[in-house]
Amino acid sequence: MRTIAFVTQKGGVGKSTIASSLAVAATEAGEKVFIFDVDPQQSLAKWSKARGENDIPVAATTPAKLSAAIAQLAKSGVTLCVIDTAGADAGTSLAAMNVADLCVVPTRPNAFDLWATEITRKTLRENKRDYVFLLNQCPPAQQSARVEEGVSALEAMGGLVSPLISARVDYQEAARHGFGVTEYNPAGQAADEMRKLWSSLKRRLAKGKAAPMKKAA
Ligand SMILES: Nc1ncnc2c1ncn2[C@@H]1O[C@H](COP(=O)(O)OP(=O)(O)OP(=O)(O)O)[C@@H](O)[C@H]1O
Ligand SMILES: [Mg+2]
Repeated sequence: MRTIAFVTQKGGVGKSTIASSLAVAATEAGEKVFIFDVDPQQSLAKWSKARGENDIPVAATTPAKLSAAIAQLAKSGVTLCVIDTAGADAGTSLAAMNVADLCVVPTRPNAFDLWATEITRKTLRENKRDYVFLLNQCPPAQQSARVEEGVSALEAMGGLVSPLISARVDYQEAARHGFGVTEYNPAGQAADEMRKLWSSLKRRLAKGKAAPMKKAA
């Protein structure tokens, strides 16, 4: 089992939105996916309720219980565990970072977001975690100077995963209905982005050094 955690110091950057759509895209690609929601907002637990199916189980847990819950899950046949965390909550974020094989740090291509990302990166490096940045909510044309600056800044900070994710209504509508974008509009561009994102992350997980599991702080 591989574990991906969505972490950032900054709230509202798309952790839950991308985590849910990625979980669906990975399921469609043959993974057996399980989601841990350690955000007290319970966004993905609510998403699961709206979904109304248990094909991708979502369990709420606390930072203190996360490490044991992951160890248990690893014995259950699940191949991919996705963890969604609370922005700006050092406790949940650190617990998730410490159990993840790969941390995904979504950020929008704006100055304040990019500066906040630096804080998350510092924590990841201090804890020797493997991570990639994900540029989310880019203008769909994707050719703005803002996006280009974001791409350069994140590449300089240690790795931007492809593709760039655009701001698209599909992400909002899919989440509202308990879907991933690949289900909500399979032929849409958001669906294409999510399938590509899963292939990139899968490749990254395959070559990433499996970091030793650390105890939750
Ligand atoms: N690619 C996207 N296109 C359009 N809207 C998006 C996209 N990504 C996120 N959003 C919207 O941005 C808002 C914040 O997204 P989301 O709740 O997923 O962020 P978050 O990082 O999980 O926030 P929090 O830190 O509060 O948990 C939501 O309204 C969501 O619909
Ligand atoms: Mg969230």
